[in-house]
Amino acid sequence: MRVQKTVKTLLAGVLVGAAWLAANTLAASLSISLPPETAKLKPSTHPGYLIAMQKCAICHSADYVNQQPSKMTLTQWTAEVAKMKTAYGAPLSDDDVKQIGEYLATTYGDAKLATTTAAPPAEPAAATVSAPAKAVDVMALLNANACLACHAIDKTEVGPAYKDVAARYQHDAQALSKLEVSIRNGGTGKWGAAQMPPFTTLSQDEIRLLAQFVLKQ
Ligand code: HEC
Ligand code: HEC
Repeated sequence: MRVQKTVKTLLAGVLVGAAWLAANTLAASLSISLPPETAKLKPSTHPGYLIAMQKCAICHSADYVNQQPSKMTLTQWTAEVAKMKTAYGAPLSDDDVKQIGEYLATTYGDAKLATTTAAPPAEPAAATVSAPAKAVDVMALLNANACLACHAIDKTEVGPAYKDVAARYQHDAQALSKLEVSIRNGGTGKWGAAQMPPFTTLSQDEIRLLAQFVLKQ
């Protein structure tokens, strides 16, 4: 019968449609579950990549870099990095500025450099970062991470004086682990409304050293 056939066709159509929808929903949810790449710096074999991972994350996420116009030249990128140093106090040596400028220009722009091809062969970044540390010096860590841009030993700046932190936690048996968590994750509200940035690129040993240093003030 005609009517039955139409119903069957319709049904089949609905079923196919449902399957199609399901497949698409699945595809959509699969692609949504991928980590957002924009939050990270693009990997590179250029030595500036490791320096940028360590130093540029001190104050803000890699989104700032990812949102820059795509065709910036070496000169523009180097000027941008230099600005982080001169205008905002980023702890960068002149060589850091040069290396990070080159890394950004070659990775985000289309600059080609002789040094890129001459750079050492690709090394897994993790291996390089966690390479057995040279004797870690607390003062060097404080300087390299701009801790002292926001903290002083005995007066309140953007963040609390380290002496005040030591005093508040002196009878707390959990002090060391609490401060390690604070340094790794950053935070706000324990001392005031200002925000402490997270320091996720530091190793556990480095964080412990810093926490111990603060508690000794
Ligand atoms: C000491 C803190 C600090 C460090 C370290 C730092 N920046 Fe910034 N950066 C800032 C501030 C502050 C701004 C301006 C934020 C705003 O205007 O909202 C900024 C903005 C930017 C912008 C957006 C464009 C602009 O000029 O405002 C880019 C790109 C950028 N930073 C790249 C970098 C790179 C690359 C590094 C690593 C070499 C870095 N930053 C390290 C503080 C820092
Ligand atoms: C951009 C400014 C800024 C930088 C850079 C910064 N801090 Fe802080 N820090 C703060 C602020 C603001 C607070 C108070 C946060 C709060 O009220 O919870 C704080 C709090 C702390 C505390 C106390 C945490 C607690 O649980 O009571 C310690 C310890 C500390 N910082 C250590 C460090 C070390 C070590 C570094 C460098 C690796 C560093 N800070 C870099 C702003 C900063």
